[in-house]
Amino acid sequence: MLVRVSGVSFTYPRREDPVLRQVSFEVPSGAAVAIMGPSGSGKTTLLALMGGLLPLREGRVLAVDAHGQEHPVAAKATWVLQTVSLLPDRTAAHNVAVGAYSAGATPTEARERAAACLTAVGLAGREQAPARLLSGGEAQRVATARALASQRPIILADEPTGQLDAATSAVVIDALVTARSGQTVVLVTHDREVAARCDLVFELRDGVVRPAVGP
Ligand SMILES: Nc1ncnc2c1ncn2[C@@H]1O[C@H](COP(=O)(O)OP(=O)(O)OP(=O)(O)O)[C@@H](O)[C@H]1O
Ligand SMILES: [Mg+2]
Repeated sequence: MLVRVSGVSFTYPRREDPVLRQVSFEVPSGAAVAIMGPSGSGKTTLLALMGGLLPLREGRVLAVDAHGQEHPVAAKATWVLQTVSLLPDRTAAHNVAVGAYSAGATPTEARERAAACLTAVGLAGREQAPARLLSGGEAQRVATARALASQRPIILADEPTGQLDAATSAVVIDALVTARSGQTVVLVTHDREVAARCDLVFELRDGVVRPAVGP
């Protein structure tokens, strides 16, 4: 599904300076785009507005399907948040299966997808571990697997490799970017190697999104 952001501006209540100023960009259907930019530049704010976690007051964010029909992105998207939240007493596999169930999969299908997606993020063998016993990086990978297992058409991921070493980060990005099944991915990252694996790279700076230039 194509994602179209047009003329989005945003200022937090009781703050003077806008975080986003007339942000416009388009992510082609099935593409993976990295959004880079300095800390505090508004990347999380932009994703939150795109996914409906913050109220959009100015501008539009739309998902456009193959028939040209427009949908709210929130109705088509799933999240990997900067602060991961899992059900602590449930297993890694259960946490991932929940992503698939809630997107309409049958219990059997959800379990199968959970196993496949955990393997894709390098967590084969950790399926039965309770989430509370996972390391920060493992929990982050479970959250990514949960988003993949949902098979929702759009994945909005906020620094999904922020807690990972370079090798593990490459595995997760391959899962998100290469092994996905046609999903459109919008991924915030500080990591140039992660960005280099995406189809497009945008930079958010001074409230504006532009195609990133060179390394
Ligand atoms: N709830 C809030 N209320 C007021 N200001 C906020 C709020 N959340 C974020 N901000 C401010 O908005 C700006 C953008 O924040 P945001 O979290 O979107 O940045 P970011 O690019 O995701 O940064 P990082 O790379 O550190 O995660 C910052 O100046 C931040 O202080
Ligand atoms: Mg952020």
